[in-house]
Amino acid sequence: MSIRQTIIERRSIKQFNGKKVEKETVLRLIEDAAWAPNHGNREPWRFVITAGEDQSAVHTLLRDLVFPNWQTEEPDALAKKMEKFTLPGAYAFVIVPEDARQKERLEDYAAASMLIQNMQLLGWEDGIGMCWKTPGFLDNPKFRTALNVQNGERVIAMVQIGYFDQMPPAKPRKDVAQIVSVFGE
Ligand SMILES: Cc1cc2nc3c(=O)[nH]c(=O)nc-3n(C[C@H](O)[C@H](O)[C@H](O)COP(=O)(O)O)c2cc1C
Repeated sequence: MSIRQTIIERRSIKQFNGKKVEKETVLRLIEDAAWAPNHGNREPWRFVITAGEDQSAVHTLLRDLVFPNWQTEEPDALAKKMEKFTLPGAYAFVIVPEDARQKERLEDYAAASMLIQNMQLLGWEDGIGMCWKTPGFLDNPKFRTALNVQNGERVIAMVQIGYFDQMPPAKPRKDVAQIVSVFGE
């Protein structure tokens, strides 16, 4: 696959098939993706991951955050609602420093964003899909505590990682003529 092909053909995967992704695979994806450019070589990122066979602890955490009244739910209905959290094969929560200086903070967010896209492209080459998600609970103190996120850090992404059976259709992009003007013309 050429880089061009991978960039164009990658899709955000939101429906996974439940096959687990091994920890070593996630570590390799992050290790390679960390070659993303980043100003001052600050490498402004760290990760909390779950992978492999038993990910029940993170499923429990997500259930408690998303369905605080889960005890009142009918178990099968709850399990169905939870599938969007239980079917991904692994998770990477991406944590960046919140630099007090605005320029550095933006640079760090941009650099971590490039790392995440690198991960998505590298995974795609291996048949592993991902979706960068930003649910509201990323800023929830209970969630931050569970992940040991420190003051001055922010969780910018829940990256769901996994295998999938169905390829979602591409969401069309604007024509380049709509988004580019040539200076002076
Ligand atoms: C910063 C960021 C946040 C996103 N948050 C969510 C999200 O919370 N839930 C979701 O379903 N998709 C989320 N996405 C994925 C987008 O919906 C997806 O990239 C977009 O629909 C284009 O689809 P494609 O990646 O297949 O081209 C996010 C993407 C980015 C870059």
